[in-house]
Amino acid sequence: MCDKKIFYITTPIYYVNDIPHIGHAYTTTACDTISRYKRMKGYDVFFLTGTDEHGQKIQTAAEAKGLTPQQLVDEVHQTFKELCKLLNASNDDFIRTTEERHVKTVQAIFSKLIEQGDIYKGTYSGYYCVPDETYVPENAMGPNKTCPDCGRPLTIMEEESYFFKASKYVPQLIEYYETHLKAVMPKIRYNEIMSFLKSGVRDQSVSRTSLKWGIPVPGDEKHVIYVWFDALINYATAAGYLDDPEKFAHWWPHVRHMVGKDIIRFHCVTWPLLLLALGVDLPVEIFAHGWWTVDGDKMSKSKGNVVDPFKIVKEYGLDPFRYFLMREVPFGNDGDFSELALVGRINSDLANDLGNLLNRTLQMIRSYRGGTVPACVDSQSELSAMSVEVLEKVDRAMNDYAFDDALKTIWEFIRRSNKFIDETAPWKLAKDETQSERLDFVLLNLYEALRLSAMLIAPFMPETSKRIWTQLGITDDPTSSQYDSFTWGDGKGNIIGASEVLFPRIDIEAWKKEREEKKLQEESAVIEHEAEIGIDGFKTVEMRVARITKCEEIPKSKKLYKLEVDLGYEKRTVCSGIKAFFKPDELEGKMIILVTNLKPVKLCGVESNGMVLCASVKRDGVSEQLTIITPEKDIPLGSRVS
Ligand code: MSP
Repeated sequence: MCDKKIFYITTPIYYVNDIPHIGHAYTTTACDTISRYKRMKGYDVFFLTGTDEHGQKIQTAAEAKGLTPQQLVDEVHQTFKELCKLLNASNDDFIRTTEERHVKTVQAIFSKLIEQGDIYKGTYSGYYCVPDETYVPENAMGPNKTCPDCGRPLTIMEEESYFFKASKYVPQLIEYYETHLKAVMPKIRYNEIMSFLKSGVRDQSVSRTSLKWGIPVPGDEKHVIYVWFDALINYATAAGYLDDPEKFAHWWPHVRHMVGKDIIRFHCVTWPLLLLALGVDLPVEIFAHGWWTVDGDKMSKSKGNVVDPFKIVKEYGLDPFRYFLMREVPFGNDGDFSELALVGRINSDLANDLGNLLNRTLQMIRSYRGGTVPACVDSQSELSAMSVEVLEKVDRAMNDYAFDDALKTIWEFIRRSNKFIDETAPWKLAKDETQSERLDFVLLNLYEALRLSAMLIAPFMPETSKRIWTQLGITDDPTSSQYDSFTWGDGKGNIIGASEVLFPRIDIEAWKKEREEKKLQEESAVIEHEAEIGIDGFKTVEMRVARITKCEEIPKSKKLYKLEVDLGYEKRTVCSGIKAFFKPDELEGKMIILVTNLKPVKLCGVESNGMVLCASVKRDGVSEQLTIITPEKDIPLGSRVS
């Protein structure tokens, strides 16, 4: 069955208790990339995403907002649809678990399993994590009876519950995984799942009486179906399990799930056990990707470092973001997101490597051949030879979901093509009539390298690929072409289009400065300003020009210097907390502004008679940057500042 060119891929369905972040954007982008790739390889593709709209999390979030759960999910699921649009996702369906087609499917499956004796009624008591909506076995609890995943305290719950006879199907699942080594990827997750399965799986509670917001158990409406049981079934609903057996038979044997590493037990244990009970095929592959941290930190709302895909795309463009997500981290590993790293990739990989290849090539075709791609007798070169390997390597990488490897391979080719320009020096060939054929050969090869590169990047950066093709003078959509029919040399005779810069380089220094200023602005928006004062109030502060004549350490203090200052009419001793920013010899001789009428105060055993004016950037009350205020030109010591 699976050798047919059919590919059904799913993202997890996203909880709508919160707004989308980089984690959601990541899986959607990965699924979109592989979908586009498979389509270009001639596959019939069905790409599914959607939203998970039942359960405690949603009910609690709705209560907090003063909405009904239905109002909340109707509102928030829209942002996830917008995320798909933002990411240029080519999903074929978007499922919501509150839709009727899904509710009916879940209830039908529940009833079927009751009928066949695989779901039975019992009592459940155990430690429960409310936010994660999961019971935690005692041997898996964290210290002080906390949730091992989120660290929050667990609550004891006892309730009548329906149970799914998961244990019955465990041996069959183990056998399946033993003969399907790529059913769970990467290997580390496969091993994790196998050892979990072998350690024993208990029957699983699949209903709740403590909650209202869920799909009612058919015929026993005081129970609602457990949200994970409900959610997992979305993959079957959308494939037509209940309504459209033909559709289901077409897609289901080719289903693949992509998920984050935190939800593999549900996908690689609960879900396949359920499918075994239903007597339908198991997923061909389940791939678990890693998690993103942000600037080295775990992403969390309380830290305020949640990466908003809408903001990033607005600032840097969609394709650079998609490229970064797929290139920066081997798929399956954890990774770190930073805007600086994104800017680095834009400048080096996109503007420099790809952008330069395009600009240089088109400019030469325009100058030396009037904009028409030349033909030549034999167009085969080291680039065409390399292109064959590149296509094979990319295909292998994509089949392993090694998106970063695929991109590395494409970029090796792009860099090699840039080197080809330097080696063949077309500008020299253009000056020599006898080299005309050689110049044709070089220009055609560069054009073909670009045509191939644009096609190869199409699944990752569809818009950029199109923009390159337009500049190359090709009118159709690169994603409608198929890898397998690419023929080196076919581009001869094409007439190139107008040029435009693909990715403007970002000036890193200016970018850093701008961000620093923005941060300050954001911070100042929350600064509590002092109360207004009148001029007379201001005049009560006496400030005068002075000069530091001596600077000494204070043995007991890490922050303070003891300064001798000269006011012209008198000398004073002042303590100043600027040690972290200056060496003593940098201060001696400096003109400063001193507040002269502050009450004397003893600091670390030294009497301080005034205060040196400084400007500083503070974070959490600690100065990160500091500068001393100094007169702009010489003026007698003791002059009054007003
Ligand atoms: N609703 C469930 C899935 C049900 S599927 C039948 C769910 N939703 S979620 O919205 O909380 O998470 C969706 C996906 O986002 C998960 O795959 C999760 O791994 C992923 N991520 C959440 N935070 C992430 C990062 N910081 N980095 C990468 N992915 C992360 O779980």
